[in-house]
Amino acid sequence: MTAADFNRTMLALFGSLVFVGLIMEYTSFVFAPQVLKVPGYALPGSAEAPASAPAPAAPKEVPLPELLAKADAKKGAADAKVCATCHSFEKGGPAKVGPDLWGVVGRPVASAAGFSYSDAVKGLGGDWTFDKLNGWIANPKAVASGTKMAFAGEKDPQKRADILAYLQSLSDQPVPFPK
Ligand code: HEC
Repeated sequence: MTAADFNRTMLALFGSLVFVGLIMEYTSFVFAPQVLKVPGYALPGSAEAPASAPAPAAPKEVPLPELLAKADAKKGAADAKVCATCHSFEKGGPAKVGPDLWGVVGRPVASAAGFSYSDAVKGLGGDWTFDKLNGWIANPKAVASGTKMAFAGEKDPQKRADILAYLQSLSDQPVPFPK
């Protein structure tokens, strides 16, 4: 081995060491373990939750009357376009895939003339209150598994309130919102 060979070898060795060192430095930066200030999870309302790392507030459920108070029937009419593929909204409107929804608020469940309801919906009983309609629009299958209403559900509570405000308007004697 000549001196030049030796130098080259050493240089290569040194170079690789630096390279490996850099990689280790980089990975420890990328995969840096997160050190918790407080062991465990900060629960909402727990006194010792550090102020610097507040737990993300669980989406608070706003009561329906509050949502209805700021509901917009015009927006609801637009949001109810998806319903219109299956429902008519006019007084004396025809049954389509689903029953006519004129005056549905306060109407006995499964009572539209000329529509053949599923046993699941027929078995619900009672009248369509705002509360029941809210649950229904959110997830029909959860209310009546086996329903014929093939609608996944509107997950946005304010949009549901808007739709309810629109449904309320479809009546000669609109049912007032619950307090
Ligand atoms: C894909 C078609 C379809 C869509 C979309 C749909 N529905 Fe329905 N809906 C139905 C059918 C079918 C029924 C009857 C359910 C049964 O008998 O099981 C029904 C039933 C209902 C009922 C019960 C009515 C009664 O007389 O008891 C209400 C209220 C209702 N739908 C509201 C809505 C609203 C509001 C929307 C939009 C957010 C909507 N539906 C979207 C098909 C649909």
